[in-house]
Amino acid sequence: MGERSFGAGVIIAPSILSADFASLETAAGEIDASGAEWLHFDVMDGCFVPNLTFGPKTAADLRPRSRALFDVHLMVARPDVLIRGFAEAGAGFITFHPEAEVHSHRTLMSIKELGKKAGISIVPSTPVGAIEELLPFADLVLVMTVNPGFGGQKLIPRCLEKVKTLVQIREKQRYGFLVSVDGGINEETAAGAREAGADVLVAGSAFFNAADKAALVRTLRGN
Ligand code: DX5
Ligand code: ZN
Repeated sequence: MGERSFGAGVIIAPSILSADFASLETAAGEIDASGAEWLHFDVMDGCFVPNLTFGPKTAADLRPRSRALFDVHLMVARPDVLIRGFAEAGAGFITFHPEAEVHSHRTLMSIKELGKKAGISIVPSTPVGAIEELLPFADLVLVMTVNPGFGGQKLIPRCLEKVKTLVQIREKQRYGFLVSVDGGINEETAAGAREAGADVLVAGSAFFNAADKAALVRTLRGN
């Protein structure tokens, strides 16, 4: 399922970081059943962030077991070495951190050359100004509202100001990127992220801790 046009209601992307890693096929099925459109893959290398998760083979093995678009979030020191693997595994969006790659324009273009949507993600301490030169080429900007590495953290409200700034720039310059918010999204914080202008909401712990996942997805969407 692809991305929607702007303003057509937010896309919900549950993160399997908060799922039971011994039952990822079940988690993928829960995401499909909940009505969420995307499956958010938090790839961590224990270097760029102090945690370690999974690689392209996990995505490839899950691909035939999920109807969701795979939204791959590379929190890794060397994104260039993983892009092809995730593209071949069936990713829809591949998002990396320009903080990890000096030649970010080249990395962004390499994702697009593989026929995938290219995203950039910024951590709480990175200002929007640092990625201004990449915005004309990006299909998605993922604003981290927690320090990356772990699920279950509290959203940092100040980070939502970057969402507003990105939406203003997109409108002024007529760019085409989606804005995603990632970290601490739950029943309490989703409205603020939507009001700031988010097109996509990533939710890990809120989703996998919810007894009724379809009801949570509706709540995050504002329905
Ligand atoms: C954090 C990841 C987030 C995280 C979100 O480094 O990028 O996607 O899994 O988890 P919650 O929704 O629990 O904050
Ligand atoms: Zn993420």
